[in-house]
Amino acid sequence: MSSSNLPYRPRRLRSTPAIRDLVAQTRLSPADLIYPMFLADGIAEPREIASMPGQYQHTLDSLKATAEHALEAGVRCIDLFGVPRDEDKDAEGSAAWAEEGVLNRGIRALREEFGDDLIVMADTCLDEFTDHGHCGVVGVDKQGSSVVLNDATVALYEKMALAQARAGAHIVSPSGMMDGQVGAIRGALDAEGYTGVAIMAYSAKYASAFFGPFRDAVGSSLTGDRRTYQQDPANARESLREARLDIEEGADFVMVKPAMAYLDIVGAIAAFSPVPVAAYQVSGEYAMIKAAGANGWVDEDAVMLESLTSIKRAGAEQILTYFAIDAARALR
Ligand code: PBG
Repeated sequence: MSSSNLPYRPRRLRSTPAIRDLVAQTRLSPADLIYPMFLADGIAEPREIASMPGQYQHTLDSLKATAEHALEAGVRCIDLFGVPRDEDKDAEGSAAWAEEGVLNRGIRALREEFGDDLIVMADTCLDEFTDHGHCGVVGVDKQGSSVVLNDATVALYEKMALAQARAGAHIVSPSGMMDGQVGAIRGALDAEGYTGVAIMAYSAKYASAFFGPFRDAVGSSLTGDRRTYQQDPANARESLREARLDIEEGADFVMVKPAMAYLDIVGAIAAFSPVPVAAYQVSGEYAMIKAAGANGWVDEDAVMLESLTSIKRAGAEQILTYFAIDAARALR
């Protein structure tokens, strides 16, 4: 067969930038991006996080200024984490639901400053606030083993989510991987009339080494690991079940975390989910790209956009990423 008889020539549609753009299946937009930020208590100046170059523990002022930069770049959603002072941590993480707790103050300040222009999402988990660093209450089960107690923890998540709703959060995001957390939070919010507050459920959250730099970012007190509540990286099937349960319990979004090493999970959940599917490009993913970029080993901006494009192509409609502002600017 001579080459002129080829039945189809896929290169035709790759021949010019305009044609490539015409047929691009995945289009990344600043509106897809959610920017995670850290508000720290008791600091006078923002502090750069050593393992996450370009990311900061913020003061209230630098939080508001950076949120403004995000908006200017077209990023309209912030995911806020609180970093309390060590002396405010306790066994239950009570600073998480204190009206004047650092995270709740941050939510209130962002709402006062930006109204509904900026979507304020809050992390709904206790690990930043507990003195042992676990995502819930450590106690002893019926057989005498030390465990993170599921139902006692979920009761505290309800209080935390309510405090976040009162502070003005548009979205709460339970990330502790306790069973039944989404339904319990939905019930607590509805019972107090916060029917308009949405829930982004961390549905498939893996016990991942890619969270390493985040533990620096929040000054985590954790020793040990989270393998009794976060998922085993070896498993795919349970992610589908977790997402189904969260949807039944009232999740408005389901999320997969981390992103790049779990794109099969993103794709599998996107194939059936009736609610939007998000993915979280976590601290370690960011740190690796920044480090390789700083060394000149990869083109940082190109890898940033390629990684985000691949997460969207896999089926995520929203992407939480520390690159949000940089990516949004690059997309303009
Ligand atoms: C826990 C939480 C973690 C992250 C977000 N929420 C860390 C963990 O589970 O240990 C990780 C985020 C990141 O690595 O960027 N509430």
